[in-house]
Parts: sequence; C-alpha cells; structure tokens
Amino acid sequence: MDNHVDFIYLNMNEVKGLLPSYQDAIKIVESVFVAHDENMAILPNKFALDLEHIYGGHLNIMPGYLADLDIQGIKLITAYINNWEKGLPSAMAMINLYDTKTGAILCIMDGSLITLLRTGAATGVGAKYFANKNSKVAGFFGAGAVAPYHINCVLESVPSIEEIKIFDIREEQAENLALQIMRERGIKAYKVSTHEHVVRDSDIVVTATRMPKPSTLVKKEWVKPGCFIAATGQCYELDYELPLCSTIVVDNMEQCKHVHSGWGFSPLFDNKIITFDDIYADMGQIVNGKKTSRTNEEEIFIMWARGIGTEDVATGYYVYQEALKQGIGTKLRVF
Ligand SMILES: NC(=O)c1ccc[n+]([C@@H]2O[C@H](COP(=O)([O-])OP(=O)(O)OC[C@H]3O[C@@H](n4cnc5c(N)ncnc54)[C@H](O)[C@@H]3O)[C@@H](O)[C@H]2O)c1
Repeated sequence: MDNHVDFIYLNMNEVKGLLPSYQDAIKIVESVFVAHDENMAILPNKFALDLEHIYGGHLNIMPGYLADLDIQGIKLITAYINNWEKGLPSAMAMINLYDTKTGAILCIMDGSLITLLRTGAATGVGAKYFANKNSKVAGFFGAGAVAPYHINCVLESVPSIEEIKIFDIREEQAENLALQIMRERGIKAYKVSTHEHVVRDSDIVVTATRMPKPSTLVKKEWVKPGCFIAATGQCYELDYELPLCSTIVVDNMEQCKHVHSGWGFSPLFDNKIITFDDIYADMGQIVNGKKTSRTNEEEIFIMWARGIGTEDVATGYYVYQEALKQGIGTKLRVF
C-alpha cells in the first residue's frame, strides 16, 4: 500500500503556460454558475483576515467544492492597495486543491493569473447574456492587473465591439493598456481623461479600480439606455441612483449578502432602499435559462460579481489536469 502523499507545485510561469483560452475560461466560469444553480457546488462565505488598519491590506480565504469535477480547494489571496509603490502586484494568490475522498493535497499553484482570468471570464459571461447584440463601444475604469482580462473576455463574448475606452488615474497605465489591446486585438483602443467620456455612448461599462474608499465614477445621467455594466469586487464606483433604474444580477447571492457594511451597494441595503429581493437573478439562473436575460434594447443591467472561490477551484482544476497531461510542475512529498 502506497501511503505517501505527493503533490505538484506549479509556479506562476508554469501556470501561465497551462491556462485555458479566454473562450474556455468563459465556459468554465459559466459551468460554475450552473453548478451553483443545480446545487452541485459548496461555497462557504469568503472571509478576510483584515490588516487594513495596520498594513493597508487583507488576506481573503475562499474555499469551494464542485461535485461534477469532484474537486475541493481553497484560494488564499492578499490585497494590498499600495504594493505598486514596491513594484509588487496588489493581489497575490495561491490555490490548493485537495482529493475529495482522502483530503490529501494534490496541487499547490500560483493563483494570481487564475484570479485575473476567471474574473475577466465572469465579465465575459455577463456580456454574453446582457450586452446588446449590436454593441460597438466599451468603456473601462481601471487599467490594473485585471483590466486586460476584462477587455479580452468582453471582446470574445461580444465580437461586434469596435472601440475600447480606458480611464485610470495613473494615465500611463491606461495609455499602455490601450496600446497593448490595439497591438494584440487589432481594435481601436484609447485612453480617456474624464469619467463621463468612459460612460457616455458606451454599450458596456466595466469598473475594476482599487480605491481607498468608495467614490462615484459612473453617474446615472451618463449611462446609455441598454448599457451592460459589470461592477466587479466591492462594486463601489456606481452612482447610488443607478441600481434603482437598472436590473441587477449577481454572481452569487449569498456572497453578495456578506459584503462589508459601508461598501458597494451596502448603504442601499442598510437603509432598505433596495433589498436582496430586488436582485433579479443569480448568474446560474440566467445561464440555465430559468430566468430570461435581455428582452429589450433599453434595459440597463448591472452585474455585480464579487468573485467566488469555486471559479478559482474550477479554473485551477483545469490547470492541474493540463499539468498532469503535460508532465509540468515540481513533484513534492509531504510524507
Ligand atoms: N470580483 C472579482 O472576482 C475580482 C477579482 C479580482 C479583482 N477584483 C477587483 O478589481 C479591482 C481591480 O483589481 P486589479 O487587480 O486590477 O487592481 P490593481 O491594483 O492592479 O489596479 C487597480 C487600478 O485602479 C486604478 N485606480 C485607482 N483609483 C482609480 C480611480 N479613481 N479611477 C480610475 N482608476 C483608478 C489604479 O491606478 C490601478 O491601475 C479591485 O477592486 C479588485 O478588488 C475583483
């Protein structure tokens, strides 16, 4: 009887070579949404070890289980807003996968790129179901690590897009990302200098900034009828008027209920201006066809995606399977 426990370690470079394509990542995230809708997933609430008041950062702990893949795992991800001053990414993650029958560790891998890809892919899923079919213009707030993944996944899901606008308080970041998108995708992309310019006439708006406190970047009066807005993370860039005239969908209702007070839409919930009953659907209900997506060209949709550990486990499992197939990674022994 082999009573050793061995696992594979995958560093960031190895993970990079094993990632699914944008299209495949979109399919993986879609299947995660479906798994939740069919009670084929377990997702304990993510929780944070909060050192914001001491060091300006926190450690998020995000476990998940997927029955169809028969895999369990956990992502541990830190977020330190001022890391760019030290030349480090704001967010750094590791994903651990475990055998469901014995609990033995199977793989420890970098989770930073997986986080970026699955987050962009969730926006891609939203754009697929909620963007108007003739969408031509997309505006993006934030040109940080996750931004190129949002842009690429939107372009994969909505091939009619012809123009990309990017705003970032660090202007050179927006400029460089626009050049990268033009080079890689052969599409018109440019930096803009005002919040209004990002939003006006845009068929899709994506918010992915990292700010020390909530601040309105997207005003209701600028938003084009029929716009699809993907608000990721804490969802703290939107005018509080916007949810009142929009249809809101979420990646996962339970996770969204546990957002920090004072952040995102929480003041609206705290003051009972909206309740969770006002949220139209979980993405799983949309992908599974239990609720309709867009029925007219005027309705504004907001997708609030907090990010869920099962997306990381599913994408990490894909990477792990590829590593086994291709013989990549360092085999390590626990005992
Ligand atoms: N929902 C999810 O699953 C998920 C996953 C990953 C990241 N996120 C969120 O996405 C956001 C971006 O993540 P990231 O890893 O790209 O962060 P990052 O730190 O790499 O980049 C953030 C960017 O936002 C810019 N920014 C800060 N204030 C701004 C403002 N007022 N206007 C415009 N731009 C501004 C910064 O200059 C920076 O370029 C974060 O809020 C993060 O929490 C969500």
